[in-house]
Amino acid sequence: MIFFNFKNFPNIKTERLAIRQANFDDIEDVFELRSSEEINKFVETKRIQNFDETKDFIILCNELYKKKNRIFWLIEFENIVIGSVILHRISLENKYAEIGCKLKPEFYRKGMMSEVVDEVLKFGFKEMDLNTIEAYTHKNNIPSISLLEKYNFIFQPERRDENFKNNRIFKLEKKYFLTSINN
Ligand SMILES: CC(C)(COP(=O)(O)OP(=O)(O)OC[C@H]1O[C@@H](n2cnc3c(N)ncnc32)[C@H](O)[C@@H]1OP(=O)(O)O)[C@@H](O)C(=O)NCCC(=O)NCCS
Repeated sequence: MIFFNFKNFPNIKTERLAIRQANFDDIEDVFELRSSEEINKFVETKRIQNFDETKDFIILCNELYKKKNRIFWLIEFENIVIGSVILHRISLENKYAEIGCKLKPEFYRKGMMSEVVDEVLKFGFKEMDLNTIEAYTHKNNIPSISLLEKYNFIFQPERRDENFKNNRIFKLEKKYFLTSINN
């Protein structure tokens, strides 16, 4: 079996959504997603400050994609960008990645991110052949924790994020994911 080789960018279609590569026409949307206080209220990393930093972020994502270290997608609903999803800190050697996602608030609780996560996990485990996908999320981020638990991510109580003490770590192994989708 030949697994994903990071040549063509893996654009994905779901029932309602297009999950696609970001380009410089998307600067305003990426800026909103990565600077908004509301969207990032549980995210402790530094906010993007302006369009120049946003452009640098898109360039960095493309560079890290070439290094097989990151896939940053935008999520489109009816031709409007509504969010983003990322697989980052990818290690093909260790068959490992971390997932992160952001949605514009007007689209919360409509099952949008479930539709995305479903496909991105299938892509990560089946096409990329990862064994482990983890998520770091703030201990009070109920929407995020609910989403992770829906997909059977397991809380890792003994582990801590060294950089952000309020983050908690959730882990999903390929074998559990494949069992859950086959049942
Ligand atoms: C986390 C986030 C992506 C969830 O997206 P979403 O599209 O609203 O999630 P869904 O509608 O697919 O819901 C997924 C599950 O979580 C539950 N859920 C979502 N928001 C919830 C909330 N506020 N309270 C309780 N449960 C919630 C849903 O009920 C659903 O479970 P169900 O299908 O069993 O009912 C969204 O809230 C968001 O972008 N938050 C800001 C950014 C962020 O904090 N990202 C996570 C850290 S990187």
